[in-house]
Amino acid sequence: MEKKNIDWANLGFGYIKTDYRFVSNYKNGAWEEGYLTEDANVVISECAGVLQYAQTIFEGMKAYTTADGRIVTFRPDLNGERMEQSAARLEMPVYPKDEFVKAVLKTIKANEAYVPPYGSGATLYVRPYMFGSNAVIGVKPADEYQFRVFTTPVGPYFKGGVKPLTIRISDFDRAAPNGTGHIKAGLNYAMSLHAIVDAHKQGYDENMYLDAATRTKVEETGGANFLFVTRDGKVVTPKSNSILPSITRRSLIQVAKEYLGLEAEEREVFVSELGDFAECGLCGTAAVISPVGKIVDHGKEICLPSGMSEMGPVTKKLYDTLTGIQMGTIKAPEGGVVEVE
Ligand code: PLP
Ligand code: COI
Repeated sequence: MEKKNIDWANLGFGYIKTDYRFVSNYKNGAWEEGYLTEDANVVISECAGVLQYAQTIFEGMKAYTTADGRIVTFRPDLNGERMEQSAARLEMPVYPKDEFVKAVLKTIKANEAYVPPYGSGATLYVRPYMFGSNAVIGVKPADEYQFRVFTTPVGPYFKGGVKPLTIRISDFDRAAPNGTGHIKAGLNYAMSLHAIVDAHKQGYDENMYLDAATRTKVEETGGANFLFVTRDGKVVTPKSNSILPSITRRSLIQVAKEYLGLEAEEREVFVSELGDFAECGLCGTAAVISPVGKIVDHGKEICLPSGMSEMGPVTKKLYDTLTGIQMGTIKAPEGGVVEVE
């Protein structure tokens, strides 16, 4: 198979149409057997549940070329599981996780020519999603749905790759205490758009959202969880019921404990202790681990000791180990990496 002629090393995080996408329709209470299509357009009712009441959920994962030339994906079972939970919360039919994994592998395989080569710095981003497709005008769940998976080759999520970011504490909230922050629903992202546009206008790379109830605790950003390192080298990640349970973050905790012999703790993190940390990073599929150099709290600058020129030493070890596992240079934990055959 010949790779597409793409300037892999200079890809940003954008959409490039690839050849195939997977589609399965839900009708009369059942999912049809899905299929691959070259048609990238979706045709639905003007009154579709997704268009009127935002009934849509998604996942984000990546395919990697390993050092020995295989194509793999990382923890697809956990993405499938999370999509089941997202569907249940939005009263959508569950697309079973085993079928989800099969659909993902099939779509990656069909777009093999777009999986960036090992060492290029790029990866194939995989976007499974599902939406209410039939007409609903009273506020209620749709009866018909479409599950789809497309792929797009991507470079780093943040321009500048691993250059530390400057973020601000946002006055906007992302999620309510008993709301939908813990699932991957499109609505969570729609409501973050104004906050991110405003942050960019003010010269910040991202927002740090706080818990909506007390505004004293760190939640997450619009597209990644936080990871902190204490001055004595312990990894700390914020615990909250209203943040997305990031697969990258859960994997990094495993890496910290089992591969690097570090202590790692998931607990509430207060804004008042931000100045005590040595390192901070944003972790997610798209973000991988993007280091944060400075957090601005309404004009007050909190400068992480790791600085603005490179990743902190613990963040770097976590990054190198996780990406080593994903690219096949470090042995993966049981069930971590699934080969696309
Ligand atoms: N938090 C939010 C809001 C996200 O959109 C994402 C991206 O998927 C994450 C966290 C990171 O999750 P994961 O590591 O599973 O990609
Ligand atoms: C991901 O990391 O997969 C996400 O969905 C985050 C999104 C902001 C691109």
